[in-house]
Amino acid sequence: MSKLWEKGTARLDALIEGFEIGDDATYDNRLVEPDVLGSLAHAEMLAAIGVLAPEELDQLREGLREILRLHAEGEFAMEPGDEDVHTKVENFLVTRLGDVGKKIHTARSRNDQVLVDLRLYSKRKLLETEVALLECAAALVRFACKHEWAPMPGYTHMQRAMLSSVGTWAGAYAEMLLDDWSLLEAAYELNDWSPLGSAASYGVPLPIDRQLVADRLGFAGVQNNVLYAQNSRGKVEGMIVQALAQVMLSLSKLAQDVMLFTTSEYGFFHVSDTLVTGSSIMPQKKNISMMELVRAKAHIVLGYQQQILGVLAGLPSGYNKDYQETKRPFMDSVDTVLAALAVTELTVGSLEPDEERLLAACTPELYATDRAYELVQQGVPFRDAYRQVGVSLHELPPVDARESLRKRTHQGASGNLGLQAQEEAVTRRLAAARERLDGIEHHWRNLVSGEPQKGMGGNER
Ligand code: ARG
Repeated sequence: MSKLWEKGTARLDALIEGFEIGDDATYDNRLVEPDVLGSLAHAEMLAAIGVLAPEELDQLREGLREILRLHAEGEFAMEPGDEDVHTKVENFLVTRLGDVGKKIHTARSRNDQVLVDLRLYSKRKLLETEVALLECAAALVRFACKHEWAPMPGYTHMQRAMLSSVGTWAGAYAEMLLDDWSLLEAAYELNDWSPLGSAASYGVPLPIDRQLVADRLGFAGVQNNVLYAQNSRGKVEGMIVQALAQVMLSLSKLAQDVMLFTTSEYGFFHVSDTLVTGSSIMPQKKNISMMELVRAKAHIVLGYQQQILGVLAGLPSGYNKDYQETKRPFMDSVDTVLAALAVTELTVGSLEPDEERLLAACTPELYATDRAYELVQQGVPFRDAYRQVGVSLHELPPVDARESLRKRTHQGASGNLGLQAQEEAVTRRLAAARERLDGIEHHWRNLVSGEPQKGMGGNER
């Protein structure tokens, strides 16, 4: 297919052509729908300011809907000669509609087109990630509630330290994921600004209505400065991947714990047989390999993050082709995190504690600190109590673990985990994320059908 910039004077060298399309040959396939949505909003705006006649807008809408139909049937895939998805969409419209197709690119550039495509892609993916993350947190809270009073040794330096509980362990991860949710939310907000109208990086000498476009696309508002809009390419992706990397850090820690606690040495938890794999040589093996992969993939996402930030560092302002190289690590990060969350949720849902093994592991030395505090309550200074217990560890009396768990009554301790508040927070946020995802999908369906609609933002920056 012809390039948008070809003037018929020279033909691009084939080696350079293939090198330049690079990853876009595959990754731009994910931007077909966003590119169509951006084009629909842009065309409506062009009609509103009189650049397009109403019937021209109708024709463009029909052409763009046709692309969505073809895409849904797998008939709109990138081909080697297509420079990028923006070129493919415009070429299709020109072939179908002639001169009307040639008007759609008025007042825009592929530079702001790719920006808006990525923002729309990210809007959906961030909400999908929030839902997956909160579903995983919900599984952890359920597990924590169910086994709130199951005693479990707590470790520091990987050595038995003090009495803890399965509820404390699982609740800790639920809380960690809720923090990660806040990071995803922050990334969502930073991504939620429409860059369309910034064009190549410097706007256009036409009275375009950027707010109308932002409203039609369901953004919170317009990303104001045209040059900053372009300079935020990759920066926003970097911020999203930073949040995603935090999610992976949480999952990798959880994965490590699950692997450790399911070994025959610990034997604290069992994972369903439907989730474990075997060995081709050792008949007895049950491998929790999906958790090993989650652990490894945390590093992979950190690597993607490094790729994105590395491409950005020191780039001069305005569009640079280097940005294209951030697309693959960005989209791969999103896919990796979504897959890791789904697998972790399934694993947590199948975990079964072995209460007998857990209790047997709660050996008397776990209560050494408790004993010292008993002496403190009798008026012995802590350092003296510490020494007294430290030299008579073999004399520690047996303790009722469950009762001891209940005695830890201060906020956040095993007897007062606040699991109900956590459950409420997860449920509330999950419902909100699902509602937001439905809302944005609905908003975009209206854009496709041409229904008038209110903007979703009304914000200013
Ligand atoms: N595929 C390009 C990218 O991802 C789209 C923008 C192309 N712009 C240009 N001036 N060549 O960055």
